[in-house]
Amino acid sequence: MPALVEVKDICKIYNPGENEVRALDHVSLTIDEGEFVAIIGQSGSGKSTLMNMLGCLDTPTSGKYLLHGLDVSHMTDDEQSDVRNREIGFIFQGFNLIPSLTALENVELPLIYRGVSKKKRRELSIKALEHVGLGKRMTHKPSELSGGQQQRVAIARAIAQAPPILLADEPTGNLDSGSSREIIQTIKNLYAEGRTVILITHDPGIARQAKRIITISDGKIASDEINTDFKEEEK
Ligand SMILES: Nc1ncnc2c1ncn2[C@@H]1O[C@H](COP(=O)(O)OP(=O)(O)OP(=O)(O)O)[C@@H](O)[C@H]1O
Ligand SMILES: [Mg+2]
Repeated sequence: MPALVEVKDICKIYNPGENEVRALDHVSLTIDEGEFVAIIGQSGSGKSTLMNMLGCLDTPTSGKYLLHGLDVSHMTDDEQSDVRNREIGFIFQGFNLIPSLTALENVELPLIYRGVSKKKRRELSIKALEHVGLGKRMTHKPSELSGGQQQRVAIARAIAQAPPILLADEPTGNLDSGSSREIIQTIKNLYAEGRTVILITHDPGIARQAKRIITISDGKIASDEINTDFKEEEK
């Protein structure tokens, strides 16, 4: 079986020419289904650029990206967006919820674009919100929820259709330490349930929560190690 994620010698060069920035410089990595990986690096090291590649939000200047064995590095925008909808659940630092919609409607929204029927949308969204402990907050708008709860709505939205990959970019960046712990626990639970989680962060404390830690520096992979302190959740 092919690896879930296979990045082969990818470069991303912004502004080719004199002032070029090599945001990714010959990056190769493989991630298998069911892994829990943190990608850590300092500001400007290339984390978001790599996340955009992994999330099919951008294409590399050179190199290949295979997702489930399928070459997504040379697809058109439309083809990439199909793959993205099918394969990836995104969790962003800023939650990206729509203020005028309830928690339930926020979770339902992307399912509309994915052509899921109304009845099924409701069913999947309720299940996802219950899953993250928000069964009693479904009719609340984002402004009526705490930061941690808003991020859990965003997680429910990401997992509603059970995509194979969860891609989180600084998911606790806007949260206090208590809410951060809660969100990390929610993410760990999703891993324990068998999902593949890729967590992007600049914070070593957050990265240490993952089972494998990839360090990126100046657009290159500086290290890729199993976290020996990682403890599997009780199942
Ligand atoms: N659109 C762009 N055009 C030109 N240069 C860019 C562009 N986007 C990013 N860069 C440069 O590429 C490098 C990597 O940027 P990237 O956003 O991936 O870093 P990062 O690790 O996510 O940083 P941060 O932790 O601050 O979010 C940086 O030097 C940045 O200035
Ligand atoms: Mg970034």
